[in-house]
Amino acid sequence: MDSLRDHGGIVFIDLRDREGITQVVFNPTDDRELAERASHLKPESVIAVGGKVGPRPPETVNPRLSTGEIEVHGNELTVLNVSETPPFPIDDALGDKVQEDLRLTYRYLDLRRPKMRRMLALRHRAAHAARSYFNDNGFLEVETPALFKSTPEGAREYLVPSRINPGQFYALPQSPQQFKQMLMVAGVERYYQFARCFRDEDLRADRQPEFTQIDIEMSFVDREAIYATMEGLIQRIWKESLGVDVAAPFPRMTYTEAMNRYGVDKPDTRFDLELTDAGGIFEKTQFKVFQSVLAAGGAVKAMNVKGLADITQGELNNLTEVAKSFGAKGLAFIKVESGEWKSPIVKFFSEEEKAALAKALGMEDGDLVFFAAAEWERACSILGRIRLESAELLKKRDRLTVNEGDYRFLWVVEFPLVLFDEEQGRHVAAHHPFTAPVPEDAGLLDSDPKAVRGQHYDLVLNGVELGGGSIRVHQPDLQLKLFKDIFGIPEDVIEERFGYMLRAFRHGAPPHGGIAFGFDRMVAILNGTRSIRDVIAFPKTQKGQCLMTGSPAPVAARQLRDLHIDVTLPKE
Ligand code: AMO
Ligand code: AMP
Repeated sequence: MDSLRDHGGIVFIDLRDREGITQVVFNPTDDRELAERASHLKPESVIAVGGKVGPRPPETVNPRLSTGEIEVHGNELTVLNVSETPPFPIDDALGDKVQEDLRLTYRYLDLRRPKMRRMLALRHRAAHAARSYFNDNGFLEVETPALFKSTPEGAREYLVPSRINPGQFYALPQSPQQFKQMLMVAGVERYYQFARCFRDEDLRADRQPEFTQIDIEMSFVDREAIYATMEGLIQRIWKESLGVDVAAPFPRMTYTEAMNRYGVDKPDTRFDLELTDAGGIFEKTQFKVFQSVLAAGGAVKAMNVKGLADITQGELNNLTEVAKSFGAKGLAFIKVESGEWKSPIVKFFSEEEKAALAKALGMEDGDLVFFAAAEWERACSILGRIRLESAELLKKRDRLTVNEGDYRFLWVVEFPLVLFDEEQGRHVAAHHPFTAPVPEDAGLLDSDPKAVRGQHYDLVLNGVELGGGSIRVHQPDLQLKLFKDIFGIPEDVIEERFGYMLRAFRHGAPPHGGIAFGFDRMVAILNGTRSIRDVIAFPKTQKGQCLMTGSPAPVAARQLRDLHIDVTLPKE
């Protein structure tokens, strides 16, 4: 029961079920004792009502309710379960203002709110649309193990001790990657799975420690076949869950272009605001900061934020802190106000440099120009982040509107196969070590590994990485070479972790490739929400806790003994 109104003895009850609200009336002129009992019902109690459905009196018709033209005249009432007073109102508008921790502790009540029920139904429709698409296109759904083994690549893993193999551990899979490739070797040809994945990462709004992928692998395909099949999947999901027609093929952009123009490999292309390369303009500059970066082979990137010259000092300080958190030494800027350039750095610029800059960036009154000088990728990333922050500042001033229902799909392609990881001091896979190089670049593997592009693609939607995948290596010799020479994995580790894969590839492995979509991220966008916690029935908090059940939690000493585990807690 949702709520109750007592109008001089006539009791109106809003009875709520999965589909919505129905009004029930208990009239004392029909049954005084029943109406009296109804008037004492407590909200959120579970009741059974018998009665007669009839039209509402015209003046009480509620056009906002699908059941707004009828009501039930109650003649029976049973209380199946009395509810305590809920800790927050079961109401969309009010419930949104409740602390998320409280909502998660009482998630079963939170999920009673109409918008949460709509979300669950939307998630179901999206999953159903995907499954029917796969079914129509000859895919088999195959389950893969959740008890897997530790692999050295990727995020930190969750480990599970094996009682019957003392001192040995399973790892929960970060994705079914290796199993789906084995299914291709096994001849499955077209596989999909709604797969639960586990990653012990620092959590954010778009990251959960366990999340769901729509995981896909296909044999005898090239990148074009993957793009076309996945565009069909997305069209089906959007059509069946939202009724929206998505146009295909989706545009494509190389990684290099995405970084150069948007400063990120997952650009939000719903608004313009692009980066400019200012390296050429400052080739011979006297400004030491730019000079030394350019001399070291770095880049000077600039971005003109139209209409943000009225940025406050506080906002500017925030942006500088953001830039620094991305490794910037500072965030140089020029404000254009009343024909004047206000900036701590223009005094170092020559007249030619100023003229060239004004032209390249189309600078006019009201503009705010930012600079980042650093190694190319870092300079791009800094301004890429400042771009998003600037967009928020423009939105706040009503100078930019970005529509959540504007779906800009984009394939980002031709990532480098390997990236140099400064922390580890070695090359690591940009995607994962099973990604095949672009055939034309394979010759560069020995001479210039950083220049080799991988057959890796990401599907990006409105600034979110929705999914990523690649055409895989299926030749054992090439895979071994990548592990050994490119990623520098010691031979005994290769044998221990991937020996079975190399053996499998020597037994007739078809060329294959695939992709995985973050299903929670997809549903969040379909649902018009930002946090994937909003579209997971029982999510974990930023600290990886389930507040409803209270996990994680200590276990009994006896359980640890059975597992041969000693716990040493960190000192406070
Ligand atoms: P990848 O690691 O890019 O690829 O993951 C695929 C997609 O999964 C989503 N995702 C997440 N969603 C929520 N919480 C997380 N912690 C999280 N981490 C990733 C993202 C991402 O694009 N096996 C490969 C795919 C392949 O090559 O076929 C893989 O897992 O939306
Ligand atoms: P400095 O000469 O170090 O005081 O820097 C002058 C201005 O340039 C200050 O506004 C700094 O924030 C900014 N700045 C310094 N280093 C960089 C850089 N690598 N990229 C962009 N701006 C910078």
